[in-house]
Amino acid sequence: MNDLTVKDEKGLRVITINRPKAMNALNAPLIRAIGEACQATKDDATIHGIIITGAGDKAFAAGADIKGFPELSQEDAIQLSREGHEIFTDIENFPKPVIAAINGYALGGGLELAMSCHMRIATENAMFGMPEVKLGLIPGYGGTQRLAHLIGKAKAMEFILTANMMDAREAYRLGLVNEVVGSEALVAKAEELLQTIAKRGPLAISHAIKNINLSVTDQGFESEISSFAKLMVSDQAREGVAAFIEKRKPDFKKLS
Ligand code: CAA
Repeated sequence: MNDLTVKDEKGLRVITINRPKAMNALNAPLIRAIGEACQATKDDATIHGIIITGAGDKAFAAGADIKGFPELSQEDAIQLSREGHEIFTDIENFPKPVIAAINGYALGGGLELAMSCHMRIATENAMFGMPEVKLGLIPGYGGTQRLAHLIGKAKAMEFILTANMMDAREAYRLGLVNEVVGSEALVAKAEELLQTIAKRGPLAISHAIKNINLSVTDQGFESEISSFAKLMVSDQAREGVAAFIEKRKPDFKKLS
């Protein structure tokens, strides 16, 4: 698929989301392709780890592709959300380390993808946020659960409810990213971490990932899928999504 570049080098797989003109927004085939590019290395003993990054210097991924939202029924939205959940959970539980190398905006579904990775390295110009409520929606790829888990409930409430963005320094301070580096050092830093991990016992690494992840539970994910899909067909989300596409401010007043 043209929107994804996959390169194997030095025992690592580098997966690059390649839609820079659309801020690397994630449509369903692209999310599927990212999942497949990860899973394909599962039994490949020559690949020790995975880096996921975005093409260009503006975005890692600016979220799910909003331009596909107006056509979605509630059933479609459940399917979209559930499939994203399954793929991102498989990445989270992948037995080899996966690092998000974040080179610009990581918003909505883009941040949710980054949060499903085991670690996040960001450039100094990276910006993080959950803008979904501006569209009349909520995060639909696990963000309500993973953000709270990573930065605590109070800060997750603040960022999801206000839709404000945070810069890389703030993301580092809150523990959302492991390290902030200059853009020229981004992939090299992720590679360095993965090469260190590659020297450890692979079976131990897979069990460490599995056990660290056990603290995240299923109940919140199920509730998120249902809310995301109900909101998708609400008048408020129809207005919020239309406003984004038409490049105007949404008017949520008087809409149910
Ligand atoms: N979906 C579809 N297209 C997107 C997009 C997205 N998430 N983000 C950006 N684009 C498109 C823009 O529409 C624009 O396309 P055109 O050239 O055809 O007009 C192009 O990418 C460039 O974007 P901007 O002109 O807006 O660039 P900017 O520098 O002025 O702003 C931005 C950058 C702040 C990232 C802004 O594009 C933006 O706010 N994007 C939307 C972010 C967002 O709301 N993400 C959440 C999506 S919903 C979601 O992810 C749900 C979920 O949890 C599953």
